[in-house]
Amino acid sequence: MTAANVADYVESARRFLPDFAYQYLEGGAEDEITMTANRAAFRRIGFTPRVLVDVDAVDTRATLAGASAAWPAVVGPTGLNGLYWPRAEETLAQAAHAAGLPFALSTASTSLIEDVRRASDGELWLQLYVQQDRRIAESMMARARANGFTTLLLTVDTPVTGQRDHYARTGFTLPLRWTPRLLWDVLAHPRWVARVGRHGVPQLVNIAKSAGLGPGIEAQAAALSRQMDRSLAWDDLAWLRRHWPGRILVKGVQSVDDAVRASRHDMDGVVLSNHGGRQLDGAPSAMEILAGARASTPRGFELFIDGGVRRGSDIVKAVALGARGVLLGRAPLYGLAGHGRAGVDHVLALVFNELQICLRLIGCARIDALDASWLSVACDAHA
Ligand code: FNR
Repeated sequence: MTAANVADYVESARRFLPDFAYQYLEGGAEDEITMTANRAAFRRIGFTPRVLVDVDAVDTRATLAGASAAWPAVVGPTGLNGLYWPRAEETLAQAAHAAGLPFALSTASTSLIEDVRRASDGELWLQLYVQQDRRIAESMMARARANGFTTLLLTVDTPVTGQRDHYARTGFTLPLRWTPRLLWDVLAHPRWVARVGRHGVPQLVNIAKSAGLGPGIEAQAAALSRQMDRSLAWDDLAWLRRHWPGRILVKGVQSVDDAVRASRHDMDGVVLSNHGGRQLDGAPSAMEILAGARASTPRGFELFIDGGVRRGSDIVKAVALGARGVLLGRAPLYGLAGHGRAGVDHVLALVFNELQICLRLIGCARIDALDASWLSVACDAHA
């Protein structure tokens, strides 16, 4: 079956991946209330279309943290992408560049900063988790700077990993331990074994390199990845500024007050995000706080959102409520799992096509002309 939309790729990813990997990709925290709310927030918003507008040409271009993009989206940072395809981050970076979008590399990536840069001339951002040993973050920032990464995303919603019940059910651990249950799971997915598993377990090579660990270090790197600096606080943003001359966006802001605080701490913007519903269950969806954050922060302060973006029309809604752009988390990964580059290309093409259709159907020829007057509420009463 040819995939017609992002949701169709969810199903093909589920068939391709062992259950532990699929659940890692798809699952949320606890009762998945927040994860469900992320989609529901988009469904509640409808449009107020304008007709008889010349929409022969539509302009979707955007400037995201100073970089021009073909449309207002970023291929967002996700860890452990090597579970889905070999050289996953290189593949995502190349697909993002081909689509005219920035790519954000996670601290918990399974490819090196240097290898991603070699694979792509595109716009690259670094997502940073700050470990207790601050030298790891300093090294990672230095490596990213040396490789021309432009924007830093400081993720602040993860002092600890959220409670993800599926870890216990599937036997997922970091590093992976080949228990009989996991082996059964893997052996039931021979296509995954042939394409991904035969290369061995993907490792957190980026964090290992910045921590100065040698080869065969998966256990130590995994342990390090859990040693978040839980003391990280607003005052530490000055430390970050000293090490990162480019733009800094604080990712994982979950209230209007914190967005305002970030703007007062010399940050360039925030990503309103609940980590795709993987951290605090009960956190609000970004779309619920976006309009308030826009009204309360200075005009040039960039607001991004993520969580549940699956359709081009979701991007239109976010931009109309004041977002500079969106981060795509799971959507490109659904394409990556089982289809590699072609799958990511197709997912991005599907979403971009939907975005253009939506703009034409609402009668908006320039995406930067969008505002809340194009929206209406209570579109889907059952959401
Ligand atoms: C993530 N996310 C994430 N965020 C981050 O800052 N660093 C990371 O390493 C990861 N890792 C990660 C792994 C996986 C498998 C997923 C699905 C997500 C969160 C990600 O950047 C983004 O906030 C959400 O994925 C957005 O929600 P959607 O688009 O997945 O619904």
